[in-house]
Amino acid sequence: MKIFNSRQAVHNYLNELRASGKSIGFVPTMGALHDGHLSMIKLAKQKADVIVCSIFVNPTQFNDKKDLENYPRPVEDDIRKLEKVKCHVLFIPTVNEMYNSAEKWTIELGNLDKILEGKIRPGHYQGVTQIVKKLFDTINPHYAFFGQKDYQQFMVISYMVKKLFVKIKLVLCPIIRETDGLAMSSRNIYLSPNDRKNALALFKALNKVKEHFKTKAILQIKKEVESYLKAAPGIEIEYFEIFNANSFAVTSSKRPASLIALVAAKVGSIRIIDNMILK
Ligand code: PAF
Repeated sequence: MKIFNSRQAVHNYLNELRASGKSIGFVPTMGALHDGHLSMIKLAKQKADVIVCSIFVNPTQFNDKKDLENYPRPVEDDIRKLEKVKCHVLFIPTVNEMYNSAEKWTIELGNLDKILEGKIRPGHYQGVTQIVKKLFDTINPHYAFFGQKDYQQFMVISYMVKKLFVKIKLVLCPIIRETDGLAMSSRNIYLSPNDRKNALALFKALNKVKEHFKTKAILQIKKEVESYLKAAPGIEIEYFEIFNANSFAVTSSKRPASLIALVAAKVGSIRIIDNMILK
């Protein structure tokens, strides 16, 4: 695996490959790689010739300084994992390589950065779009892969790509779960054994939605699942919603072509999010 720290160097290297007819698949990450990330690399390998992974803990998308400082950075481990799945290129820049102190970024994102995660973490998706656009300009991939676990992020990036006429095909990759159903996340390592057990309530709640989806009305399901989540021990619900998965707006109708249930909660001091596509 080739490792680059410089934007210019990785750009030049990939440009040559692109010019020789190779397709480029890009998996942006913040490191602390788990099987969810590695499954995205594997999926990318089915679609593109050259796979590029980036590891960059992006400061502009953190609204909590402590969260940024504490974000796990097991770089040596990450490199070993990427080599094992035969990723071709790793781009791992410093903060100074990606940002200068004077720059500003604001992009209109419709309602997408004002609801759910955007409401709880103001500015988060501005920071995400800022870094993703920079990474897209640097890597210039044919395909970019994002995890379904942050479905709202996928919607936000899709919106940006359309708005700015970016010619990259976005691919949504399925959520990878632990054997008991907990969605994999770099933050799971911070859950105490008890919180880890309590966190399962989110997956169970989403399964309840799915189980009753055919037989009950959406508003009824929401009421029941909300009660379940409120009664679940050790978790503090931030939101639980059923959305039209294409317009990303709340709905009480089953008519939209695709629906998704989304949930976020604090388990101890750790925020976790999860979702399930219902149809
Ligand atoms: O999903 C993530 O890991 C990050 O938000 C991303 C897309 C790498 C941007 O920093």
